[in-house]
Amino acid sequence: MGKSIYAGITGVGSAVPEKIMTNKDWETLVDTSDEWITERTGIKERRFADDQTAASDLGTIAAKKALKDANVEAKDIDLIVVATTTPDHPSFPSTAAIIQNKISAENAAAFDLSAACSGFVYGLTTASQFVETGMYQKVLLVCVDLLSKTIDKTDRNTAILFGDGAGAVVIEQTDKETCLVSSDLGAKGSGGDSLIIPAGGTRTPMTKELAETNKQYIYMNGREIYKFAVVAVGKTIDKALAKAGLSYKDIDLFVPHQANVRIIDSAMERMGLSQEKVVVNLDRYGNTSGASIPIALEEAYLQGRLKKGDLVVTCGFGAGLTWGTCIFRWSK
Ligand code: ACO
Repeated sequence: MGKSIYAGITGVGSAVPEKIMTNKDWETLVDTSDEWITERTGIKERRFADDQTAASDLGTIAAKKALKDANVEAKDIDLIVVATTTPDHPSFPSTAAIIQNKISAENAAAFDLSAACSGFVYGLTTASQFVETGMYQKVLLVCVDLLSKTIDKTDRNTAILFGDGAGAVVIEQTDKETCLVSSDLGAKGSGGDSLIIPAGGTRTPMTKELAETNKQYIYMNGREIYKFAVVAVGKTIDKALAKAGLSYKDIDLFVPHQANVRIIDSAMERMGLSQEKVVVNLDRYGNTSGASIPIALEEAYLQGRLKKGDLVVTCGFGAGLTWGTCIFRWSK
């Protein structure tokens, strides 16, 4: 059955901390080099939040920018969805409820969604359903992660990849020419151990002894995740395009999750896309998890790389394992 209500992005905003952590800085902490990180990942620097900053602080800045861009007042927001795996508090209150209070969105419901680096595509798909069903008119999606607080700073295999950031979008009713066109989501829980924070949850609650083993930090099997990502990205984009009856040549802008430039290059080559059609900013921010796509989207928008009606393909993958693609026509 076709849609009768269309949902699209009407505002976008982002926020990153001021502190820059360069590859050279990492050289002083672990056995690594600027050359190795640049060659293997494409990352040159990333931003790290200070001790006082929590997810809701960065998320609130991004949210306010997105609301301003959409010309929507906080009191008119019906729902806030926050995609995060680094909430202010381990279980509750949700970071969404905290942001609801900080931006005075007193009429909004609020909940968190956990999909790691797939946070934006899971979040946008979820948030747009509320608009497409007619239940809500205005939904705010905030994607925020401060992975600097969950990395083992002695583990060169994972620590150098991640940075902190937040990105937000406002989703409202639009029309057929400027809406979310299709989305594809997937998960493979059997691969979950390849990218995991082993301790601190109900499976293995934290103890003093455990804290000394660094099991409260990210463990990643980089090679496994790399192989998974290259295949998953290709498949999910193909599925989402097929659902919409579109092909690679219809893509105006590809905004992929910013994890590793080699993963982006392989997707680009597969689709035959030129550099002008791909947004890459991981050299400056590293992997900011679910925030990476909206941060890159805002950057492209501010640089004038998007015009109304352009077909945008976004694609995320990460812990879970999870992946997904959202295809939309730009509505601004
Ligand atoms: N500096 C120097 N050497 C290093 C570093 C480092 N920072 N990290 C690893 N190495 C070494 C390894 O120890 C290994 O040495 P060995 O051969 O003696 O064992 C060697 O470099 C090669 O290691 P590989 O793991 O094969 O390197 P690879 O080319 O695969 O690159 C990387 C590693 C960058 C982690 C890559 O596998 C990758 O990007 N994987 C995907 C990660 C990702 O995209 N995660 C996204 C999801 S995140 C989320 O959802 C929260």
